[in-house]
Amino acid sequence: MASLGVNIDHIAQVRQARRTVEPDPVTHALLAELGGADGITVHLREDRRHIQDRDVELLRATVRSRLNLEMAATAEMEAIALRLRPDMVTLVPERRQEVTTEGGLDVAGQIDPLRALVGHLQDNGIGVSLFVDPDGAQLQACAASGARWVELHTGAYAEAGWEQQPLELARLIEATTHARQLGLRVNAGHGLTYRNVEPVAAIEGMEELNIGHTIVARALAVGLETAVRQMKALIQNPRRDPLFGSQHP
Ligand code: PXP
Repeated sequence: MASLGVNIDHIAQVRQARRTVEPDPVTHALLAELGGADGITVHLREDRRHIQDRDVELLRATVRSRLNLEMAATAEMEAIALRLRPDMVTLVPERRQEVTTEGGLDVAGQIDPLRALVGHLQDNGIGVSLFVDPDGAQLQACAASGARWVELHTGAYAEAGWEQQPLELARLIEATTHARQLGLRVNAGHGLTYRNVEPVAAIEGMEELNIGHTIVARALAVGLETAVRQMKALIQNPRRDPLFGSQHP
């Protein structure tokens, strides 16, 4: 059964819209945990557009589940990770102009520097996951980097129309099998919603789904604790039928 990592970047985004102190992502991490989150994920971006250094420091001290720090593979971020020691680092590509993370990391194209960074983080007791597209060559490069986890990019699946979606789901299933054959553990995320999450949660061998925007959006109506609880219920008891239009609320 897949577990749920709740990404709280968008709580910080609302705070940064006014550069004030509320809402506080640290408080909301606690609410997400009360709703059943198995982990809290934050992306500390180079431009600090939402999550701030102070947030990660306080989360490190207060999160009781697991703290997953998404970050770019840079010297600045490596130093922060080594100082704060999150339970997991997920390495993601980052471009200043993007609204959100767009594609997966090109691991195959930068294998040597990534191998060094992965080794350094893992030697210091931090788990490392690489956020990649469901692509065989990238998965092989992930295994060669020494990382123990991958996070499969579900964006293409999430954005596909109904005709294309079964094909994108098949790619995710195939990539999960391939990754596990390579000895990698598998998480997934990006663009997952209450409507499209079930077939991904039902993939054999899928360990954790990282979900943010849809949960924070629903939290505006029902509160974060309830929004997390509703998502967790879908993940824990997913229908395998990849026909969409969920009957769930
Ligand atoms: N996983 C990764 C690596 C991401 O960059 C993001 C977006 O920050 C997510 C998961 C969560 O995506 P969403 O907010 O669309 O659920």
